[in-house]
Amino acid sequence: MVVPAADGERLQKVLARVGLGSRRVCEELIGEGRVTVDGAVAELGCRVNVESARIEVDGAPVGVRPGLVYYLLNKPAGVVTTASDPHDRPTVVDLVPDDPRVFPVGRLDAQTEGLLLLTNDGDLAHRLTHPSFGVDKEYLAEVEGRPSPAAVRRLREGVVLEDGRTAPARAVLVEASVLRITIHEGRNRQVRRMCEAVGHPVARLVRTRIGPLVDRSLAPGSHRTLVAEEMQALRRAGANRASEAPETSTGRPPADR
Ligand code: URA
Repeated sequence: MVVPAADGERLQKVLARVGLGSRRVCEELIGEGRVTVDGAVAELGCRVNVESARIEVDGAPVGVRPGLVYYLLNKPAGVVTTASDPHDRPTVVDLVPDDPRVFPVGRLDAQTEGLLLLTNDGDLAHRLTHPSFGVDKEYLAEVEGRPSPAAVRRLREGVVLEDGRTAPARAVLVEASVLRITIHEGRNRQVRRMCEAVGHPVARLVRTRIGPLVDRSLAPGSHRTLVAEEMQALRRAGANRASEAPETSTGRPPADR
């Protein structure tokens, strides 16, 4: 909500605080008409109520409510992706600060390792998990046996699972028994079920990328806060509808994956 002159915070100050750049850069963004507040193009100097304003930059929503946090966790095997577990197993929220309370964005199976985002920004979480936004996730799957070119092709084209055919995926054999698979759907145990369906059950599964987020040096069990550039890239990824995403615009995966 744009608010009267005496109230609220200046938009460029708000945008700078959440990491879109210096105030000067943010003024330019506003001046170029790239910022909207509640759907209307913002004017330089306007003030906003950060508790209620819906702000977008280049069509990507920007969380400006105070207290929003974003953690990237390297989940170890054996940790469950829930806020609390009835069987008292360790959970992903045990591995990050407990104030403010955050929740995992999507889920990894208990035995799956790798990158997981946790936040208290419900809007961003929704965009990143909704299949129509096509945010892709990349996995390394160590599988039983040695997948043939035909098996890899089946993964790329989509395999029929009990809940329907999977969308085309990127799949490439990076070692004799290791596949790199990129999907943008979020079905339960999807990568494990896809590999099993082509005759190669997964022995170990690691998520190595969430949209633009990668981190090869984050130790298992540790987490870090996202930096401003990553936030921006994530917002942009969340703003892309599947129809605009490169791997789905042709209905086929790119040839190099
Ligand atoms: N696919 C799986 O099979 N498991 C995960 O944890 C994530 C994707």
